[in-house]
Amino acid sequence: MSDRTVSGGGRLHGEIRMPGDKSVSHRALILGALADGTTEAVGLAPGADVRSTRGVLEALGVKIAGQGADASVLGRGLGGLAAAAGDLDAGNSGTTMRLMAGVLAGHDFLSRVSGDASLCRRPMERVAAPLRLMGASVELSKAGTAPMTIVGGELKGREYRMPVPSAQVKSAVMLAGLHASGRTTVIEPAATRDHTEKMFALFGAHAHREGLAVSVDGGTRLTGTRVEVPGDPSSAAFWAVAAALAPGSELAIRGIMANPTRVGFLGVLKRMGADFRLEKSAERAGEECADLIVRGGKLRAADISAAEIPGLVDEVPILALAAACAEGTSRFFGLDELRHKESDRLAGIAELLECFGARARVAGDDLIIEGAKHMKGAHVDSLDDHRLAMTGFVAGFLARGETTVCGADCAQISYPSFYDDFLSRRVS
Ligand code: S3P
Repeated sequence: MSDRTVSGGGRLHGEIRMPGDKSVSHRALILGALADGTTEAVGLAPGADVRSTRGVLEALGVKIAGQGADASVLGRGLGGLAAAAGDLDAGNSGTTMRLMAGVLAGHDFLSRVSGDASLCRRPMERVAAPLRLMGASVELSKAGTAPMTIVGGELKGREYRMPVPSAQVKSAVMLAGLHASGRTTVIEPAATRDHTEKMFALFGAHAHREGLAVSVDGGTRLTGTRVEVPGDPSSAAFWAVAAALAPGSELAIRGIMANPTRVGFLGVLKRMGADFRLEKSAERAGEECADLIVRGGKLRAADISAAEIPGLVDEVPILALAAACAEGTSRFFGLDELRHKESDRLAGIAELLECFGARARVAGDDLIIEGAKHMKGAHVDSLDDHRLAMTGFVAGFLARGETTVCGADCAQISYPSFYDDFLSRRVS
């Protein structure tokens, strides 16, 4: 495990283009594999998670040409995947495991999906339950975790009311629904990212939306297409917070996807008094996009309601850092889902911020953060969680003195060039 050291001070200047969005990239490869014809995916997310999806699809007989950010996927058509020779490895990626569970539920062979230690601790019953109701056999460990053994088959479309807001579960049920007879409807408790629905349309299929219910008709064919992946707003959030808090910064973050189900963090930053503007840019993959221009200044505390969390679920660590540097006490409500991410992020964030001299405490499912006047450099552990590693690094940039992030290399999960890009835009 490699460490990264960063000294505090300076500002961010210039412009930076975001890597391709991770959620959209997974879906482009998966829908491409299920489509008739070829899909050209351009600007895929560079991290290990999307490579995990690619590896799983290749093991299931999908031919994917091209390395790096561009890939050409030769679709096998609906229900056309072939049994893999061994276990499927989803690595660290919950999206790979859960979305592929939905796909495999529609195939009448046995698959065993596993992953790294972190992924094998995460809850999978939430995806197994609806797939079983549709007729698949899904076995998990006693703890309800991977490895996941799936024997798919004749699925029946159903109406499924999700107990937790999860785009991954919604997407898995929709993907299984494509392979089922009749109509499948998923009802979400709160709106989650809607990339699967949007991308169905790009592939010539249709997902019907009515309020919080989304339906797909079994047997709907997908047609291969070109997917230009927009920039990842979750990656942009690290830059936005760093620039907003470093006085004198002026940074243009280019080409980020501005899907409203993903940019909840901007609403929070606005309430905190951040100085930024969004300039619309061309749509990509049916998603609105924008450049985000951020200027450095001071932030004030804010309250973040439980209803806002699905729209910023991956941005809580970096927003918590913003709160730690803001004036006043911020409260984040309803963070239970963070316990089930790549690490127990709720505990992890509080511990990380405390190391920098901020006051952060978990109260039930809430996180209360008192802004610190000055944060001091620290020695922190990433807990092998890419978003905690990058948050620790940005905290080091905003703190006084020197910071070491242990296990910093896990940033390769979503944003391999983050640290180098960051240092190259930093001026003293
Ligand atoms: C994702 C959905 C979210 C998010 C994850 C990516 C997706 O997870 O945290 O990073 O691509 O659908 P949940 O659906 O479990 O909330």
